[in-house]
Amino acid sequence: MSSTVIPPDSDPVGRSDRPLSVVIDGTEVQGVHGQTLASVLLANDRPHWRTAPNGTARGVFCGIGICFDCVATVNGVPDIRLCRRPARDGDTVTTQSRVAASADRRAALVASEHQAETMRQRTTDAPSAHEAVSPSERTSEVRG
Ligand code: FES
Repeated sequence: MSSTVIPPDSDPVGRSDRPLSVVIDGTEVQGVHGQTLASVLLANDRPHWRTAPNGTARGVFCGIGICFDCVATVNGVPDIRLCRRPARDGDTVTTQSRVAASADRRAALVASEHQAETMRQRTTDAPSAHEAVSPSERTSEVRG
Protein backbone atom coordinates (compact mmCIF):
# COMPACT_ATOMS: atom_id res chain seq x y z
CA MET A 1 0.00 0.00 0.00
CA SER A 2 1.21 3.46 -0.78
CA SER A 3 -0.11 6.71 0.54
CA THR A 4 1.03 10.27 0.12
CA VAL A 5 -0.17 13.65 1.21
CA ILE A 6 -1.10 15.94 -1.64
CA PRO A 7 0.60 19.30 -1.06
CA PRO A 8 -2.03 21.96 -0.31
CA ASP A 9 -1.01 24.12 -3.27
CA SER A 10 -1.54 21.12 -5.58
CA ASP A 11 -4.86 20.09 -4.07
CA PRO A 12 -7.81 21.25 -6.20
CA VAL A 13 -10.02 21.70 -3.13
CA GLY A 14 -7.83 24.61 -2.03
CA ARG A 15 -7.20 23.55 1.53
CA SER A 16 -4.76 25.16 3.95
CA ASP A 17 -2.98 22.71 6.21
CA ARG A 18 -1.80 23.33 9.73
CA PRO A 19 1.32 21.20 10.08
CA LEU A 20 2.11 19.01 13.06
CA SER A 21 4.90 16.66 13.98
CA VAL A 22 4.73 13.23 15.53
CA VAL A 23 7.59 11.12 16.84
CA ILE A 24 7.50 7.45 15.90
CA ASP A 25 10.10 5.30 17.64
CA GLY A 26 12.34 8.32 18.04
CA THR A 27 11.98 9.59 14.47
CA GLU A 28 10.05 12.79 13.85
CA VAL A 29 7.56 12.72 10.98
CA GLN A 30 5.30 15.44 9.64
CA GLY A 31 1.56 15.48 9.28
CA VAL A 32 -1.31 17.93 9.23
CA HIS A 33 -4.13 18.59 11.63
CA GLY A 34 -7.14 16.48 10.72
CA GLN A 35 -5.16 13.34 9.97
CA THR A 36 -5.31 10.27 12.14
CA LEU A 37 -2.03 8.95 13.50
CA ALA A 38 -2.38 6.04 11.08
CA SER A 39 -2.65 8.40 8.13
CA VAL A 40 0.36 10.38 9.32
CA LEU A 41 2.42 7.19 9.46
CA LEU A 42 1.14 5.90 6.12
CA ALA A 43 1.90 9.23 4.47
CA ASN A 44 5.43 8.95 5.83
CA ASP A 45 6.03 5.49 4.32
CA ARG A 46 5.43 3.66 7.60
CA PRO A 47 2.89 0.96 6.62
CA HIS A 48 3.61 -1.23 9.66
CA TRP A 49 3.98 -0.36 13.32
CA ARG A 50 3.04 -3.52 15.18
CA THR A 51 4.21 -7.12 15.17
CA ALA A 52 1.62 -9.86 15.68
CA PRO A 53 2.35 -12.88 17.92
CA ASN A 54 3.24 -14.93 14.83
CA GLY A 55 5.82 -12.31 13.82
CA THR A 56 3.93 -10.71 10.94
CA ALA A 57 3.94 -6.95 10.48
CA ARG A 58 0.68 -5.12 11.09
CA GLY A 59 -0.65 -1.66 10.32
CA VAL A 60 -4.03 -0.57 9.06
CA PHE A 61 -6.39 -3.37 8.09
CA CYS A 62 -10.00 -2.21 8.48
CA GLY A 63 -9.28 1.47 8.96
CA ILE A 64 -12.50 1.98 10.92
CA GLY A 65 -11.63 0.83 14.43
CA ILE A 66 -12.91 -2.74 14.25
CA CYS A 67 -9.91 -5.04 13.86
CA PHE A 68 -7.36 -3.58 16.33
CA ASP A 69 -4.56 -4.41 13.90
CA CYS A 70 -3.32 -0.83 14.06
CA VAL A 71 -2.67 -0.54 17.79
CA ALA A 72 0.44 1.14 19.12
CA THR A 73 1.53 2.95 22.24
CA VAL A 74 0.69 6.66 22.11
CA ASN A 75 2.19 9.01 24.68
CA GLY A 76 2.86 6.01 26.92
CA VAL A 77 -0.63 4.53 26.66
CA PRO A 78 -0.58 1.08 24.98
CA ASP A 79 -3.11 -0.42 22.57
CA ILE A 80 -4.33 2.79 20.96
CA ARG A 81 -6.00 2.27 17.59
CA LEU A 82 -4.10 4.65 15.33
CA CYS A 83 -6.82 4.59 12.66
CA ARG A 84 -9.19 6.23 15.18
CA ARG A 85 -6.80 8.55 16.99
CA PRO A 86 -6.54 12.10 15.63
CA ALA A 87 -2.92 13.18 15.40
CA ARG A 88 -1.90 15.92 17.75
CA ASP A 89 1.26 17.97 17.49
CA GLY A 90 3.95 16.36 19.64
CA ASP A 91 2.39 12.92 19.92
CA THR A 92 4.87 10.14 20.59
CA VAL A 93 4.10 6.77 19.02
CA THR A 94 5.93 3.61 19.99
CA THR A 95 5.53 0.45 17.98
CA GLN A 96 4.24 -2.63 19.75
CA SER A 97 5.12 -6.29 19.48
CA ARG A 98 3.22 -9.22 20.88
CA VAL A 99 5.98 -11.65 19.92
CA ALA A 100 8.01 -11.20 23.09
CA ALA A 101 4.89 -11.13 25.26
CA SER A 102 3.63 -14.33 23.64
CA ALA A 103 6.97 -16.01 24.09
CA ASP A 104 7.07 -14.86 27.71
CA ARG A 105 3.53 -16.16 28.28
CA ARG A 106 4.41 -19.50 26.69
CA ALA A 107 7.56 -19.76 28.80
CA ALA A 108 5.58 -18.89 31.94
CA LEU A 109 2.94 -21.48 31.05
CA VAL A 110 5.57 -24.18 30.45
CA ALA A 111 7.27 -23.25 33.74
CA SER A 112 4.00 -23.38 35.66
CA GLU A 113 3.06 -26.72 34.05
CA HIS A 114 6.51 -28.07 34.94
CA GLN A 115 6.13 -26.79 38.50
CA ALA A 116 2.66 -28.35 38.80
CA GLU A 117 3.97 -31.67 37.46
CA THR A 118 6.91 -31.56 39.86
CA MET A 119 4.57 -30.84 42.78
CA ARG A 120 2.26 -33.65 41.68
CA GLN A 121 5.18 -36.10 41.51
CA ARG A 122 6.44 -34.99 44.91
CA THR A 123 3.05 -35.54 46.51
CA THR A 124 2.56 -38.96 44.91
CA ASP A 125 6.16 -40.25 44.91
CA ALA A 126 7.50 -38.57 47.99
CA PRO A 127 8.23 -40.73 50.96
CA SER A 128 6.52 -39.87 54.15
CA ALA A 129 8.40 -37.70 56.61
CA HIS A 130 9.44 -40.83 58.46
CA GLU A 131 10.61 -42.58 55.26
CA ALA A 132 12.54 -39.51 54.08
CA VAL A 133 15.05 -39.91 56.88
CA SER A 134 17.57 -42.71 56.49
CA PRO A 135 17.88 -45.21 59.34
CA SER A 136 21.30 -43.85 60.27
CA GLU A 137 19.92 -40.32 60.43
CA ARG A 138 17.07 -41.54 62.61
CA THR A 139 19.61 -43.06 64.90
CA SER A 140 21.58 -39.84 65.11
CA GLU A 141 18.38 -37.97 65.82
CA VAL A 142 17.70 -40.27 68.71
CA ARG A 143 21.25 -39.89 69.98
CA GLY A 144 21.34 -36.13 69.47
S1 FES B 1 -7.15 -0.64 11.28
FE1 FES B 1 -8.64 -1.85 12.19
S2 FES B 1 -8.88 -0.95 14.16
FE2 FES B 1 -7.48 0.31 13.17
